[in-house]
Amino acid sequence: MYHYTELGQVNTKEMFEKAYAEGYAVPAFNFISIEQFNAIMDAVIEKRSPVILLASPNLHKQLGYEILARIVQSGIDRIHNAGLDIPVALHLDHGMTFAQCVDAVEFGFSSIMIDGSALPFEENVALTKKTVDYAHRHGVTVEAELGVLSGAEEAGEEGSRTSLYTDPAKVEEFVKKTGCDSLAISIGTCHGLVKIKPNPDGSLPELRYDILQDVMNRVPGFPIVLHGASAIDPKFVDMINQYGGHIEAVAGIPEEQVTKAAHMGVCKVNIATDGWISALANTRKILAENPAAIDSRVFTLKNRVMMKEIYLHKIDVMGSAGKA
Ligand code: 13P
Repeated sequence: MYHYTELGQVNTKEMFEKAYAEGYAVPAFNFISIEQFNAIMDAVIEKRSPVILLASPNLHKQLGYEILARIVQSGIDRIHNAGLDIPVALHLDHGMTFAQCVDAVEFGFSSIMIDGSALPFEENVALTKKTVDYAHRHGVTVEAELGVLSGAEEAGEEGSRTSLYTDPAKVEEFVKKTGCDSLAISIGTCHGLVKIKPNPDGSLPELRYDILQDVMNRVPGFPIVLHGASAIDPKFVDMINQYGGHIEAVAGIPEEQVTKAAHMGVCKVNIATDGWISALANTRKILAENPAAIDSRVFTLKNRVMMKEIYLHKIDVMGSAGKA
């Protein structure tokens, strides 16, 4: 077992203080392969951007935390070998149980999320507080969630809509009672491919900046997090379908809306799907064009190059270039 400082990481405290003060968001990217990890590091090194690497509990099943911690350590070594000092945090994305959070802390994560958002308020408070008390003893920062993110699936359907967003009136009490270090809120983003429904005139609904502003007014200076912020480039959806896949055309979160949220005080923005669909589209295309291929290197190197472009662009969307 090891502590995150031995692996060269930092927790998110100072990252968020700087992001809040300077009006940008720290990019938080999920990775599920070595190529994706390398693409993220390529981009943050080129852009001099702080970064939060997101690993869900499933990645533990896929790779094992021992390997994960060493992969991240190798990326930090790469930064230092280049004479740079870019802050890197390995963050548990959507830890659902206290035990998962303990595992992550013991395996060198500098930051964890305990997601009690599906629980009744008081149960979410209790689970989050227990996790915070434990994590803080190890210097690890904790993100919690209030509000149901999948609510945006119902956007436009009267009646069910507002109740699914974060209730700003509850935020101050939640933060005070739990001692969490940052809070993911629901203002219209959504995980995965199914995000928002276009308005009848074809325009896209805006994120609920009014809720965000209300939250910021109630907990000024407190780091707010946005999940589910991928833009879903239709080019990759088309490519996946052209080369044997079958996924629905969907509307993602317009990037200018993410930039606006970052200017308003959102300190961390999570992106998974935009990285995944680009790599999968490219993989399907290359395999279709190379039916005699016998190993994955025919697409892995190209995927790294392509995903790097995605992350370079996302860093610009969040305004974090040159902030390390
Ligand atoms: P996307 O599915 O929009 O990329 O969101 C990812 C996320 O929020 C992971 O926690």
